[in-house]
This record gives sequence, structure tokens and C-alpha cells, in this order.
Amino acid sequence: MQNNIKHLAIIMDGNGRWAQKKGWSRIKGHEKGARIAKEIVKVVKSKGIEYLTLYAFSSENWKRPKQEVEGLFRLLEGFIDAEIQELKDSNIRLHVIGDITKFPEILQQKIKKSIKETSKNTVLHLSIALNYGGRDEIIRAVKTISEKTIDPETINEETFKSFLDTAHIPDPDLLIRTGGEKRISNFLLWQIAYTEIYFVDILWPDFNEAALDNALAWFASRQRRFGMTENQIQEIETR
Ligand code: FPP
Repeated sequence: MQNNIKHLAIIMDGNGRWAQKKGWSRIKGHEKGARIAKEIVKVVKSKGIEYLTLYAFSSENWKRPKQEVEGLFRLLEGFIDAEIQELKDSNIRLHVIGDITKFPEILQQKIKKSIKETSKNTVLHLSIALNYGGRDEIIRAVKTISEKTIDPETINEETFKSFLDTAHIPDPDLLIRTGGEKRISNFLLWQIAYTEIYFVDILWPDFNEAALDNALAWFASRQRRFGMTENQIQEIETR
């Protein structure tokens, strides 16, 4: 049975190394990375995948040199300015996960405006993770729950999920990490409990449709068991 993919998440790693290999500044790698992100959004939409989540700025990225952090903000602002019309025209709905309250005010306003202006769109849900950390997301959810003095008896996986930034989206079926590192780096910790994870050496600025197709083909060949035995899965498939 072929796996259907509803939600694809990507850790876009390797921009800095890609630029440095060419003797360029790291921000040049992020610029190329942003162009690749735009292309991949289109490709993902054309494949009928309904949810795409991109890790663009982690809660740990503040530790990078000020120049690089400011460059990333500029890129994000440029991405919103240049792409908002395209998102509207292509029926793509923008979401942000993470805590953007520490971002420059103008960037926050632009993000909120874009989220609002695309809120009726339905074909692709594009979530960009900004100042996002999985642990931070869980702590923010716990804080909200305790502020609401919710009866502990009513807390289960479903109610807890509704307090996460990703309340509106299903868990990822496939997570791709480019750039050769084999770790999760605090991304979607709660949500990837049963996600298939595909690590690839290609640096993000070199990622393309063919590389995505390889990842999707690998995913299609996986047997997803969600904790069940192989026999139980076969039984379900032959019903
Ligand atoms: C990781 O590469 C990438 C980032 C920290 C930023 C990702 C941002 C973009 C692709 C551009 C903006 C995105 C959008 C959606 C507009 P790295 O710098 O850690 O690379 P390295 O591991 O080679 O150092």
C-alpha cells in the first residue's frame, strides 16, 4: 500500500556551509536558501500535499552573529513583501509557529497582515517556524493551560495538542532534514512521535524537485506501523 502524505516538514539545513564552500558570506547561502524555499513551496503544492512546514528560524538561532540574525530578518521581510500576492493568488494559507513577539515590530506587523490576508485560502497550508523551539512550544502550552486552571482530568493528548502552535495542523507524515546532520534540533518534538524521518546530505541551497521526489519515493516505501505489529497492519490492509 502506498503511503499518502498530507503533511511534509523540512529542516532546511546547510545554507552557511554552501556559501562558505564558495568563499561567500553565510547570508548569501540564506539568500539562495530562501529562493529554494519559494520553489519547493510551488512544487509541494503541485504534488497535492496539503501542509508544508519549514524551519526558518529556531529559538537557538539568536546565538548567531548579529549580522546573520539581521540578515535573516531582512530575508523574511523580503520574502513576505515579494510573495504575499503570489500566496493570495495561489490559494496558499500562511501560518507561523513559534513566538514572534521578540521580532522587529515591522516584521511582526507584516507577518500578522499576511496571515490575516491569506486566512481564507485552502489549497496549501504553509507554516513557517519562526523563533520556534519544540521545548519552548510545550512550555508555552503548559503555561496557557495553568493560566486557564483547567481540570487535570480533562487533559489528554487531544486537548494538549489544541494548546500547541500546530493545533490547526495534522502531525507531519514525513520530516526531511537536508545538510547531512542526523538530529532533530528541537523541531516539532511533540508532533513527530510517528513521523518518518529522512536525512539527506544535500545542502539546502542545492535541494530541488528531484531530491524531493527521492524523499517522497523513500517515504512511499516505508511501512508505517504506529506501534502495531506487522500482522495487525496486514489485517487492516486486507479488510
Ligand atoms: C540552516 O542553515 C538554515 C537556517 C538557520 C535558516 C533557514 C532560512 C532560510 C532558508 C531563508 C528564509 C526562509 C524563508 C522561508 C523565507 P545553517 O545556516 O545552519 O547552515 P550550516 O549548517 O551549513 O551552517
